Amino acid sequence: MDILITEDLKKYYEMGEVTVKALDGIDLKVEKGEFLAIVGTSGSGKSTLLHMLGGLDIPTSGKVIVDGKDISKMTKDELAIFRRRKTGFVFQNYNLLPLMSIYENIVLPIKLDGINPDEMYIEQIIKILGLKGKEAMMPGQLSGGQQQRAALARALASKPAIVLADEPTGNLDSRTSLDVLGLIKTAGEKFGQTIVMITHNDEIAQMAGRIIRIEDGKICRGGDTNVKGKE
Ligand SMILES: Nc1ncnc2c1ncn2[C@@H]1O[C@H](COP(=O)(O)OP(=O)(O)OP(=O)(O)O)[C@@H](O)[C@H]1O
Ligand SMILES: [Mg+2]
Repeated sequence: MDILITEDLKKYYEMGEVTVKALDGIDLKVEKGEFLAIVGTSGSGKSTLLHMLGGLDIPTSGKVIVDGKDISKMTKDELAIFRRRKTGFVFQNYNLLPLMSIYENIVLPIKLDGINPDEMYIEQIIKILGLKGKEAMMPGQLSGGQQQRAALARALASKPAIVLADEPTGNLDSRTSLDVLGLIKTAGEKFGQTIVMITHNDEIAQMAGRIIRIEDGKICRGGDTNVKGKE
């Protein structure tokens, strides 16, 4: 079953005289439980695509269908609930709330939903991500890599059906990157999560089940779900 589908998805930005085609007709299908890596040069449209998949941005045209539902047909409230309950998003710039502690940041999406956090699971994530002892600190007191790991902890804390991660290891050394990837993969398999991850790192991309390459807002390799081979 395809949990994520895009149909001729386009996102154009009108910049005075020029039109920037950030996404220019993306047809993508992602199966439930799949681990997909998105690669491509800087400015090729990767973040834009991920934001669309998470319902964080509105397409110029085309469709995004999540779990059989066209997200453009959802009301604002439905979309907010969908984002909070179904998706865990790791932003390229982390997006941690500066006036909340690391622990508060991690459990925020769960608390907003009125659900009690699974404390044991969260402790496990904190430990694996090397954030033990940092729970009470503020994001500004952490290094870039630590903030990145906190953002990942927040995305995984509610065991979302879909994990959308924008360069989740972009600020980590190669050893830590592989550890963090291992965690994403293990959690994904354990909870049947679908993972879509942007990366610039080939070694990291190879850990995914499928790799798609984006250039100039178009998929130039790996867009077909039936082709499971790596590039
Ligand atoms: N709000 C915006 N207004 C205008 N142009 C934008 C906007 N957001 C993105 N773009 C343009 O869309 C294109 C794709 O941007 P995007 O952030 O998706 O690239 P990316 O593949 O994630 O790059 P990187 O690897 O550097 O993060 C770029 O040319 C960018 O300048
Ligand atoms: Mg980006």
